[in-house]
Amino acid sequence: MAFDLDMIKGVYTRMEERIDTARNVVGRPLTLAEKILYSHLWEGSASAAYERGKAYVDFAPDRVAMQDATAQMALLQFMQAGRPQVAVPSTVHCDHLIQAEVGAAEDLQIAKTKNKEVYDFLASVSNKYGIGFWKPGAGIIHQVVLENYAFPGGMMIGTDSHTPNAGGLGMIAIGVGGADASDVMSGLAWELKMPRLIGVKLTGKLSGWASAKDVILWVAGQLTVKGGTGYVVEYFGEGAESLSCTGKGTICNMGAEIGATTSIFAYDDKMADYLRSTDRADVAEAAEAAKANLRSDDEVYENPALYYDQMIELDLSTLEPHVNGPFTPDLAWPLSKFAQAVKENNWPERLEVGLIGSCTNSSYEDMTRAASVAGQASLKNIKAKAEFTITPGSEMVRFTAERDGILDTFEKIGGVVLANACGPCIGQWARHMDDPTRKNSIITSFNRNFAKRNDGNLSTHAFVASPEIVTAFAIAGDLTFNPMTDTLKNEDGQDVMLDEPQGIELPLKGFDVEDAGYQAPAADGSQVQVLVDPESDRLQLLDPFKEWEGTDLKGLKLLIKAKGKCTTDHISMAGPWLKYRGHLDNISNNMLIGAVNYFNEKSNLVKNQLSGAYGEVPATQRIYKAEGIGSIVVGDENYGEGSSREHAAMEPRHLGVRAILVKSFARIHETNLKKQGMLALTFADPSDYEKVQEDDTIDIVGLNSFEPGRSLTVVLHHSDGTKDEITVNHTYNEQQIKWFQAGSALNIIRKSVGA
Ligand code: F3S
Repeated sequence: MAFDLDMIKGVYTRMEERIDTARNVVGRPLTLAEKILYSHLWEGSASAAYERGKAYVDFAPDRVAMQDATAQMALLQFMQAGRPQVAVPSTVHCDHLIQAEVGAAEDLQIAKTKNKEVYDFLASVSNKYGIGFWKPGAGIIHQVVLENYAFPGGMMIGTDSHTPNAGGLGMIAIGVGGADASDVMSGLAWELKMPRLIGVKLTGKLSGWASAKDVILWVAGQLTVKGGTGYVVEYFGEGAESLSCTGKGTICNMGAEIGATTSIFAYDDKMADYLRSTDRADVAEAAEAAKANLRSDDEVYENPALYYDQMIELDLSTLEPHVNGPFTPDLAWPLSKFAQAVKENNWPERLEVGLIGSCTNSSYEDMTRAASVAGQASLKNIKAKAEFTITPGSEMVRFTAERDGILDTFEKIGGVVLANACGPCIGQWARHMDDPTRKNSIITSFNRNFAKRNDGNLSTHAFVASPEIVTAFAIAGDLTFNPMTDTLKNEDGQDVMLDEPQGIELPLKGFDVEDAGYQAPAADGSQVQVLVDPESDRLQLLDPFKEWEGTDLKGLKLLIKAKGKCTTDHISMAGPWLKYRGHLDNISNNMLIGAVNYFNEKSNLVKNQLSGAYGEVPATQRIYKAEGIGSIVVGDENYGEGSSREHAAMEPRHLGVRAILVKSFARIHETNLKKQGMLALTFADPSDYEKVQEDDTIDIVGLNSFEPGRSLTVVLHHSDGTKDEITVNHTYNEQQIKWFQAGSALNIIRKSVGA
């Protein structure tokens, strides 16, 4: 079903061939991240060193993973490429659309009905194009990937920010937007700025209540939510080797909370154990043979400060359990200081719900450690005071935990087992609350705790801790409780203490599952029909964008001159619009509705040059489109910053905007525009922005000699009959100019495969 051993061996062969060359061109020993990155260069062996934090590099990832919410547009785009199969092994995981309300079975059934058209589409498109499909209820993307696909030394992209979870198995795994996934599945290179490196040296060994989760909670406190941006975080040292593979996964998963590109551990015995216990002894054997390439060079470990841009050290023996929050995951409190912080800050002391599990913390080890706490409550006759929910990360973990009596232990203290899905972690939680605006506290073993993230309630104070600490708090029902020092009153009125949790790293009887929820694709998908209801308002097949007409673009109308910040959220808002992310025409009704119009300082109100009336941006653009008139969007500095959301580039393209002309672009958005066949231009002289007037009709001249490094001319025809001619720049390379000419990058692939 799952991994492709030959592909993995191929990666190890390439590593063997390419790492020496990379070491030579870089001129020094290499860290693990560098070894993996340099052996996954699109161009083959390295011919030059890439400057960290500066150089943009094309990579060839080994795998793509997609969750159901982001997979929709990724796959709709991929279909545009006209390929019979995906170019690299890929999987889809149905985990984000299941709402938690009553419990696993009922909630799953409701989700299957509610999301039927989305699931049918994802299943059929996966079946047709050779993509592994994990049905709703099979589990959460990152846990399923760790159990089945991640391998040491590999490189993967995933359409979810916690994709780095696979770093726990020594993989460079990076969260991306749907357009990137679609490109890689279509056979295109994937571009990334060569990351900088943070080294985290772990010494000592965890003990007592402290767990791997506390390592990353502590690191988040040190580095803050922005501290990892642009960095790969590499963990090493004897402390790293002492952590279980899934514990390493937890640490890498939450690297997203410090903004890290990804996080990674070197291959070790713990990884080999995990591979064997998840039925991949042959991968462990292959990794064992390639071991020297799956860790940093010795010199790096001997003198890390020379090789990492930043270094942190942590002695695990001294690490206390942590509780982070509320409202941000980097507000880190050692357990001994937490009760005081709760009191001083006037956070609600009564704990209403404890939630364990999620992609971050639902390993067998996590479940057993939490169950060892829950079991004591039953034995010592203590009733859990808060609500308590358990979200298994996969059906395999759930099935094994049920077999081993772990779920029963949770249920005995009132625990409710939810579906193997994201649920409350992503706000898919129909929480039962008397007053949803009441100030209240919850604690989770998830990763994010921003306001409204879990239950949509601004007044909910969400804290993050390890599953065993969450369980102890749920039993106490009180955030000022410290399980390491405090007693609880049991039903007999006695004061009792909870003992330190005992975990079992890997199930003694092995993992087990009856139906993992996997659907293998058809061997030949050519006859498979992709299921999209033409009446659907959530899904719409895409039509290829039109080729460039071969002439200069004349008579374009100014749609909007955006003032100030214009992020991808301003261009394509999230929130309620996410429902339409698989339907380009419907989601296009949010195009630029957040951008501020320079001429009236209002958002979503622009002049329709044909009638002189003011209207909403998407509606005005639809009028131009209906009349066959192209338009242009003008913007300020760093246009398109924010996320890699491809809709922000696809919507203007779909509605007939021909060019975006700005003072400067956020790089990812600029590339996304190029991929969709748009013209992404910058003012050669930023003050020319001031020359653009509300009634301008605009020509873009010089497209017949469009070439790298050569400026174009824009003519602004003002309504008073005067005009301004200005020079505009671009960063298109030869390949990207071809994308523009063909109408999109995917059109080129489609032509090349003869579709
Ligand atoms: Fe899902 Fe939350 Fe993980 S949304 S993928 S469980 S971070």
